[in-house]
Amino acid sequence: MLLNRIALLGFMGSGKTTIGWMLAEQLHWRFLDTDSLIEEQAGLSIPRLFGEYGEEYFRRWETRVLNDVARQEKIVLATGGGLPTREENWVILEKHFLTVFLRWKLDTLYERIKGDPERPLAARYPTLKELGSLYLKRLPFYERASVIIDGNGMTKEEIVGEIIKHAKNCGVAF
Ligand code: S3P
Repeated sequence: MLLNRIALLGFMGSGKTTIGWMLAEQLHWRFLDTDSLIEEQAGLSIPRLFGEYGEEYFRRWETRVLNDVARQEKIVLATGGGLPTREENWVILEKHFLTVFLRWKLDTLYERIKGDPERPLAARYPTLKELGSLYLKRLPFYERASVIIDGNGMTKEEIVGEIIKHAKNCGVAF
């Protein structure tokens, strides 16, 4: 089967959107982002979705948009930080995408996302310790990815280059 979709996975603040854009541009593929798709289709911002309808409702939206995106060709997808923690989402990811985990040190992630009003979970886990417990719970899910890129000490351009190199080795069709 032709593999022409790449999904970027990782914790909040991993640069999935920025790196995803750059990667899509280089490959001449389309860039999509589950959070933006949800906001567009639900007609509500992520903080309002969480605040008014709860996390479970948001998670159902995530699975719905992931299913839709998996039918499209030549796309780079940035996924929300909690998306890979659901088994039903992994069924879709494994079948349709090359999965790439962008790994960073927790301190780096914390500095990037602390106090961000656009991220409801940054408010729910305000300290480094609390965020760290969420990060550790999620790590095994992220580590299921086919490719793991350690971003520490690398430029964005180098990360994109690494992803392309691995994607070629994994048989992605450009
Ligand atoms: C979430 C991460 C967010 C967004 C939502 C929940 C999470 O996306 O999907 O706020 O559960 O980690 P980013 O990873 O792009 O920040």
